[in-house]
Amino acid sequence: MSKRTPSPHKTSAPLDTSLKRTFQRRLLKWYTEHGRDLPWRETSDPYHILVSEIMLQQTQVERVLPKYHEFLGKYPTLEDLAGASVQEVTQAWYPLGYNIRPVRLHTIAREAVEQHGGRLPDDPEVLQSFKGIGRYTAGAILSFAFQKAAPILDTNVMRVLHRIFLGPGDPKRGNVRQVLWELAERLIPTKRAYDFNQALMDFGALVCTAKKPACLLCPMNDICKAGPM
Ligand code: ADE
Repeated sequence: MSKRTPSPHKTSAPLDTSLKRTFQRRLLKWYTEHGRDLPWRETSDPYHILVSEIMLQQTQVERVLPKYHEFLGKYPTLEDLAGASVQEVTQAWYPLGYNIRPVRLHTIAREAVEQHGGRLPDDPEVLQSFKGIGRYTAGAILSFAFQKAAPILDTNVMRVLHRIFLGPGDPKRGNVRQVLWELAERLIPTKRAYDFNQALMDFGALVCTAKKPACLLCPMNDICKAGPM
């Protein structure tokens, strides 16, 4: 029988413990010094976190900020949202756009009220059984609201992890997404999952940006496989 040597990039990326620790330590230090003060970082209410994450799915932070407060002023709880009509909720969403998002949010609220006693569950599989909650949003709710060591991976985080651990290239090609999910899972420090995930987002938004990454100022520049860009 022929022995196949598995390619390290097929299903997992190489990650030694010291590299992992260096990345964790530097990212958390950078976040302490440069992390943004954002209102959804002042709450652990799973519903408020859900609203922020759904708003942030297609919209820039600056545009979400005023709407986040206004929307939660109108619908402070899942029950309030579930009790409103979908038309009213879609109107309250304006002008954020992508109007399928308020419809999904409203459906999630009704399902949470009808089937989960008006709460969002803290179980990854149950969360992902809601239409409109994928692995990313479930990870955000689990880590930001329930302090669980659940990974997150959105476009920004994919870019950061791909550059640092794999090198240059398109993070959306082939099976790379799965490799990156595994990396995100292995990198997360159990006791600081909340800060680590928020830090990844800010690092992707402020340093390791898509168009003009700040490689010269980057605390990861000597370990980054993509090198200076
Ligand atoms: N984009 C999506 N979620 C975010 C968060 N929690 N903070 C900043 N940007 C985000």
